[in-house]
Amino acid sequence: MKQDLINAAREVLRGTDRGSYTVPTNGLYPFQWNWDSVLSALGFAHFDEARAWTEIETLMAHQWPDGMVPHIIFHQMDDGYFPGPEVWNTGRPVPTSGISQPPVAGFAVRRIHDRARDKAMSAERARALLPRIHAWHEWFYRHRDPQGTGLVAIIHPWESGRDNSVDWDDAFTRVPTEGVQPFRRRDTAHANPEHRPTDEQYKRYIWLVQHFRNLNWDNARLHDASPFRMVDPGFNAILIRSCSDLAVLADELGEPDIARQSRAHAERGIAAMEILWNDALGQYACFDRAAGKLIDSPSVGGLLAAFCAIPQPRAAAIAARIGKLGETVRFLVPSHDPQAPEYDGKRYWRGPVWLIVNYMIADGLGAAGQTAMARRIEEDSIRLIEQSGFAEYYDPITAEPCGGGSFTWTAAMVIEILSTRTEAA
Ligand code: DGY
Repeated sequence: MKQDLINAAREVLRGTDRGSYTVPTNGLYPFQWNWDSVLSALGFAHFDEARAWTEIETLMAHQWPDGMVPHIIFHQMDDGYFPGPEVWNTGRPVPTSGISQPPVAGFAVRRIHDRARDKAMSAERARALLPRIHAWHEWFYRHRDPQGTGLVAIIHPWESGRDNSVDWDDAFTRVPTEGVQPFRRRDTAHANPEHRPTDEQYKRYIWLVQHFRNLNWDNARLHDASPFRMVDPGFNAILIRSCSDLAVLADELGEPDIARQSRAHAERGIAAMEILWNDALGQYACFDRAAGKLIDSPSVGGLLAAFCAIPQPRAAAIAARIGKLGETVRFLVPSHDPQAPEYDGKRYWRGPVWLIVNYMIADGLGAAGQTAMARRIEEDSIRLIEQSGFAEYYDPITAEPCGGGSFTWTAAMVIEILSTRTEAA
């Protein structure tokens, strides 16, 4: 049964493989997406290590000169997606978007290297990636934390990966829609519109893109010029985790400067995360930097904070909080609290379960000694796949598969979770 699932997951990866990169799913997302790609490499690593490295190398080859790694690489034209390269107009030799995404590469590269069967190849390829990943981290701290608070802000919801989270609702009222050029969405032709963000949200996504484009994608200006500046605990936890994993890897591969700087970022970040702790919710929550206020929103972003080495009592509280959420759903972890009025179990990041997020939360909780909850989250993840296939996301109560089908990173997580357990056994 386990092997059947792994084989089916490998089939999904084969179906979205474009040779040197994967697309997240055919149709809905026809290009290379940043964190989709890196997390998918974890799946490849179990049966084709060379291909796993290529996935990450292809992404990093499109890093901007300032260090930014874009969230989409438009390798081949495809008019089935909006907004395409002509809307972004970033002027890169191979067109890319102009914003970034959660930097999971430091984490993934260490994990793939730690488990490598071909250690010589792995060391060589990891060593070549180290300075690039480090430059990307430095870029975040330079351009998305210009005041040096220790925490970075995202300037577009697409950067978080949690596009239409309830977390942004309040801040989004400050993003105008005047002057947005008329557009036709393509996502709703591929996926059920009721599973996707609304037209109102899309207008604001595009307003921000136009705004940044008018500033020539100059990252020295974008942060302060954006009406949307949000400090997301989940995003920061991923960056912190990647910094601390990069530090370990850099030490092992003989790059002490990278190790020292990465460790310093991680330590400052973990200390700074404390301001995002919300005692009433029993989890972390976002800080709206543009408005100067904490956002009282019970989303999975605050639970994903467990992915980095937060203090043990915080990890225990998050495990307890997820346990409470488990009393209201059949499948952990919902992307928003089902008891909150804004919850919508099918609409993208306003309630559904995502396997990549489950994987990262379980990994962090496991490392913090919260093994029972980590195991339960992994088991719920596999039950979802058994019941509903390799979807983009799932209703946490009914298990209905939502969004796109045959999804690359969902399949990669299944391979990762099942193979890791087998290897451990
Ligand atoms: C989309 O188009 O839905 C993506 O999430 C943006 O990156």
